[in-house]
Amino acid sequence: MKILLTGGLGFIGSETAIATIEAGHQAVIVDNLYNAKIGVLDRIEKLTGVRPAFYEADVADKKKLGEIFDKERPEAVIHFAGYKAVGESVAKPLMYYRNNLMTTLSLLETMGEYDCHNIVFSSSATVYGTPTHAPLKETDPRGEATNPYGETKIMIERILEDASKADPKLTAVLLRYFNPIGAHPSGLLGEDPRGIPNNLMPYISQVAIGKREYLHVYGSDYPTPDGTGIRDYIHVVDLAEGHVASLKAFNETKGVKIYNLGTGKGTSVLELVKAFEEATGVKIPYRLEDRRPGDVPENYADVEKAKKELGWTARLTIADACRDAYNFQVKNPEGIKD
Ligand code: UD1
Repeated sequence: MKILLTGGLGFIGSETAIATIEAGHQAVIVDNLYNAKIGVLDRIEKLTGVRPAFYEADVADKKKLGEIFDKERPEAVIHFAGYKAVGESVAKPLMYYRNNLMTTLSLLETMGEYDCHNIVFSSSATVYGTPTHAPLKETDPRGEATNPYGETKIMIERILEDASKADPKLTAVLLRYFNPIGAHPSGLLGEDPRGIPNNLMPYISQVAIGKREYLHVYGSDYPTPDGTGIRDYIHVVDLAEGHVASLKAFNETKGVKIYNLGTGKGTSVLELVKAFEEATGVKIPYRLEDRRPGDVPENYADVEKAKKELGWTARLTIADACRDAYNFQVKNPEGIKD
């Protein structure tokens, strides 16, 4: 199948590009390089032996996107393109709403014009809001987002539901990621945040190579066994394979299909630190600090639906993810070069 990946040079997009190529699909990448490096394209080629067609373009630019669809005629789209920093979204909400919503609307309109009826959307467990229980099931209601970034994910899920009600030919797969971590085992691709990392694993990796002095552990008084927050950390390679597995949904009934992509297991911040130290042999100094506003005590996925319907299940461990994240950080201390 010819698949267009928006944001296909990003952390999850590039790993998914590899997984789709390895599964025998043809990948076409559109990325505006806002939060990705062009050097990633060479690395995808190095790892797969295939250089995907690449367009440097903003998905919100309908004219340019139309030209790309006209030339490539993709059968399906995997839509990653979007801003994703929670803190920044609180400071710049309009920028987040404009970008994340406009890219999606432009994409859906263009898909309609070019007879493309299959979309996978990069959603997030953040749509569950502040959960009252775990594990979370796809049938659990969407909650209240704690920030504009999360709100854009909720709004885009709704847009896709409405679009599919109006267009019986459309199939939209909403993949709700839990916490993606790790890197490609080669060390060539991984998470490459600009500036100070917001997320836990890239921060730990930067402490490990001495780039940051110590880890700030946000909250040690949560109602969890060791007092630190619990999340469902999933290796990005498993997550990428989840996308490939989800393409199966296009051959079945039309409409919206929702899947959690997680491991089904919760890990606390201190457990992740310990696992990292064991996997790498590097000590991670940390300090216990106040809770971070907007954080929830605990969330992890119920993964039965993806297993049953897509035949997909995460197979890599936290230790694999720690080893791979560290390997990427050691090999790319200043991130991926252009
Ligand atoms: C966050 C976002 C979520 C987004 C996801 C991926 C919030 C509320 N949620 O998830 O919407 O989809 O990132 O980008 O921000 N922690 C520390 N020290 C750090 C960083 C994190 O102790 O330096 C702790 C956090 O308190 C949390 C856990 O580590 O308990 C995971 O944090 P993080 O990696 O930022 O992911 P989430 O907050 O779960």
